[in-house]
Amino acid sequence: MRIPIRGIHLGYTDEGRGEPLVFLHAFPLSKAMWEPQRTALVSHYRVITVDLRGHGESDALLWHFTLDDYAADIIALLEHLGIGRATFVGLSMGGYILFALFRQHPEMVKALVLADTRAQADSEEGKAGRVALAQLAYRQGMGAVAEQMLPKLLAPVTVQTRPDVVEQVRAIILKNDPAGVIVDLIAMAERPDSSSLLPTLACPTAIIVGEHDVATPPAEARFMAERIPQARLVTIPEAGHLSNYEQPEAFNHALTTFMAAL
Ligand code: MLT
Repeated sequence: MRIPIRGIHLGYTDEGRGEPLVFLHAFPLSKAMWEPQRTALVSHYRVITVDLRGHGESDALLWHFTLDDYAADIIALLEHLGIGRATFVGLSMGGYILFALFRQHPEMVKALVLADTRAQADSEEGKAGRVALAQLAYRQGMGAVAEQMLPKLLAPVTVQTRPDVVEQVRAIILKNDPAGVIVDLIAMAERPDSSSLLPTLACPTAIIVGEHDVATPPAEARFMAERIPQARLVTIPEAGHLSNYEQPEAFNHALTTFMAAL
């Protein structure tokens, strides 16, 4: 489905009944990365997956946006759907956007799942890497972006033994528009440090991380878990950065256990 929100059309799914569970995807993917969660959880919860601006079925405007804009899109979508409060699941960039959303509307957050993400802002080296990747996206397109990102997104064991998963993730990346990727990179490079927000996250929070995540390693997850008052940390074995996609059963188990305890 697509609806007009804040000057663009936003793609999303909204299925099932019960507690709303809102999923925000990683860079440079789309809501398609949540298929293993959507299909497994839709019989228990109201599952909402969203294509962030510039991704999947959402419009890609080549302009300057911040992660606050991405968060405002989600808030506007939830208002449209009549949802005032939800549990949010954000993986990596999706987690960065959850920090922005919490800053804007903490009352909308019943519980948080921060998966394979980090609280700190980019280092200078990290920002330079964003510039280089934006240039690559502009000059060579999504195929080159996928080639560079796949080893960061998936654990070596996934890359070596599960070609089907590698090709599915590549296909999700290839459906995106380079304009959306470039806008993401600028927005992520400019995002503020959210470390000081962590002690104020008063809601129940699950932190999930793939054992072999190199993009946002387990040390980043521990950093957040030590500072968020009600945090519960789960490590997913044999998974890299896309822990939800590489090990859906373990990820879904962590999620449903957390939801059951709310
Ligand atoms: C992501 O998966 O969203 C990215 O790895 C985030 C980032 O590049 O910082």
